[in-house]
Amino acid sequence: MELQTTLEKRQSIRRYREGGIPDADLEDIIKAAGTAPSGKNTQNWHFIAIKNRQVIQKIADIICEKNEAVCLEMDKVDQEKADRFRKFCKNFTVFWRDTAPAIILTLATVYVPSGYNEYKLIGAEQEILLDLMGYRNPGMQSIGAACENLTLKAIDLGYGTCWLTSANYAAAELEAYLKDELNIFKEGYFFVNMFAIGLPQENQKSPAKKPLEEIFTLVK
Ligand SMILES: Cc1cc2nc3c(=O)[nH]c(=O)nc-3n(C[C@H](O)[C@H](O)[C@H](O)COP(=O)(O)O)c2cc1C
Repeated sequence: MELQTTLEKRQSIRRYREGGIPDADLEDIIKAAGTAPSGKNTQNWHFIAIKNRQVIQKIADIICEKNEAVCLEMDKVDQEKADRFRKFCKNFTVFWRDTAPAIILTLATVYVPSGYNEYKLIGAEQEILLDLMGYRNPGMQSIGAACENLTLKAIDLGYGTCWLTSANYAAAELEAYLKDELNIFKEGYFFVNMFAIGLPQENQKSPAKKPLEEIFTLVK
């Protein structure tokens, strides 16, 4: 598919048609992710694709249980906000549980940016260290590059994806499940996001994008 067409077709897909994904397509999608650039060529990613329905359900259950645990605490403070968070979980975090033929979990390793250890050595303030390690972290930028490749390759093969970070508050529980029950967790990695993937249903809406003048400054 022409790159421009792929870019224009890209949108978050939350509703799927009947149909599975052959393993070979998943392999091609992850191969594309693996061609992304990464800081110091660390290739700090690992992808776990799951087609097994029971495992997909269990992952959704883990997220829902964590959501409910948080919501029960929120109920004590603000029930309306808690109910909103419950609804958000259903519509934007686990919408794929019965319909997506596969989900893909992304794991990453910690990336220590240039200057971090050097700043630490000279006793820099916590805020400066957090700024380097957190907000501008190159490791997460590399993950973003790989994930966008994954997304675009999926479109190229006729699939639609939804990139998901809203389950990240259940990261510890998900990691424990992958490690203790499935025995597929990679030592030294952590869970960063997940994707729902499948054949897209028609007519899914996407929000408008900002105009060029709002996102671009050209200095001549
Ligand atoms: C880093 C990242 C995290 C996202 N997390 C979620 C999510 O947890 N749930 C969801 O339904 N969509 C999620 N999305 C999809 C965005 O909501 C979507 O990209 C945005 O609204 C623009 O819509 P479009 O992708 O259709 O252009 C995420 C996208 C990105 C890039």
